[in-house]
Amino acid sequence: MFAKTVYADRRNRLKKEINQGVALFLANPEASFNYPANTYHYRQDSHFSYFFGINHPGFAGWIDFESGEDMLFGNDVDIDDIIWMGPQPSVADQAAEFGITKTFKYKQLAEFVTKTLSQGRKIHILPPYRGKVMIELGQLLNLPAHEVKAAASVELIKAVVKLKEIKDALEISEIEKAVDIAWLMHTTAMKMAKPGMVEQEIAGTIEGISLALGGPVSFPIILSVDGQTLHNHNHHNTLKEGRMLVVDAGAELHSLYSSDITRTVPVGGKFNQRQKEIYEIVLKANVDSIAAIKPGHEYREMHLLAARVITEGLKAAGLMKGDTDEAVAAGAHTLFFPHGLGHMMGMDVHDLESLGENYVGYDEHTQRATQFGTAYLRLGKKLKPGFVLTNEPGIYFIPALIDKFRSEGKFTDFINYDKVETYKDFGGIRIEDDILVTETGHRILGKAIPKSVADVEATAAETREWLKFPGIF
Ligand code: GLY
Repeated sequence: MFAKTVYADRRNRLKKEINQGVALFLANPEASFNYPANTYHYRQDSHFSYFFGINHPGFAGWIDFESGEDMLFGNDVDIDDIIWMGPQPSVADQAAEFGITKTFKYKQLAEFVTKTLSQGRKIHILPPYRGKVMIELGQLLNLPAHEVKAAASVELIKAVVKLKEIKDALEISEIEKAVDIAWLMHTTAMKMAKPGMVEQEIAGTIEGISLALGGPVSFPIILSVDGQTLHNHNHHNTLKEGRMLVVDAGAELHSLYSSDITRTVPVGGKFNQRQKEIYEIVLKANVDSIAAIKPGHEYREMHLLAARVITEGLKAAGLMKGDTDEAVAAGAHTLFFPHGLGHMMGMDVHDLESLGENYVGYDEHTQRATQFGTAYLRLGKKLKPGFVLTNEPGIYFIPALIDKFRSEGKFTDFINYDKVETYKDFGGIRIEDDILVTETGHRILGKAIPKSVADVEATAAETREWLKFPGIF
């Protein structure tokens, strides 16, 4: 956790954005997975953590935009809690760690809410994404739980986006640590991608690296030789020569900052000619669209640049044809690249997405496209220094999508379907880095993770060294 001045400064900057009412932030509760006392790993709400720091359930944070007061509601532990969890700091001590001097018992929150509403003052809330929080807010605000999300304050959403989308040096340093852990996760996966291994052995090993060096993975690991399925969480395949392993995985730190990296490695460590040809296209889309990242330009431009590189490359490979710009304008490339180039990243791996994708990735100047594939771009708006985002182009041969487009007679001017048919057993390739937008351009965050053909092959040829975590901490 950071110094208490960091949290006080964040709350003070929020107060500059909103003049009236109060903001109420609830800490995440515990979540049970198979019976009440058996809970998932506890994960604090990122917005609560950003402004109030505390990494425990049972708290509510309150920011009064008129009086300027910050308050924390929570209960001190009792002897039962101490028996099971050991001694815990008091609420007042925890509050003080994050620069808050006014604390109250949790049950007093309802009185504060009632009084504030009776004064005709607004209570700004963010849209909840957990059922228990919807119920709790509904009870406090006297709303049916299913109406709470719609009652979220657009003013607060926009203010939180404005603050959190710009990462400061402390946050960037945390994200870089998370990328450094991802470096070990991905280089380990490359070394383990040998014929006969089962995907689960690799997934479990790299999840363990995240836990050993930071915290849990930042999202469920995507790891499969069936990389044509974009988010494949099934890890049961045995690796065989001729396939490629897509690994999309990142780590989360105790501070909740995260990484999100994808690499693709040929099983056995050597690309064959066909794999190499498609891999080089994805790599060029990644490298060229990263090179174009600078403030003042829309990320949608970089998405379309990657789409053009992919189309050019697939034309050279005989899989597409026709005019590149016309093909991209028509959306023909989406047969192979049916997702967006990237998203914001920070505490949440899709940073701020709980507030609504369009509030984070779009604004009054940049509206989301409606075209299949391009519409899935999560971040389209103009870039500013301090944004941290992912760059993750891919090429996939999805048999069901190929059949659908072909049977619908789609893009016949741009796609050589007969040749594409011969790639239905290919799988997919994705390459992803985490990028900081700087004042003049960009910086790829963290320790360089092999991605050229030569570097991936060299890493995959190495033997994994057990329990060695070189150069991270
Ligand atoms: N890398 C996983 C995701 O963006 O959802």
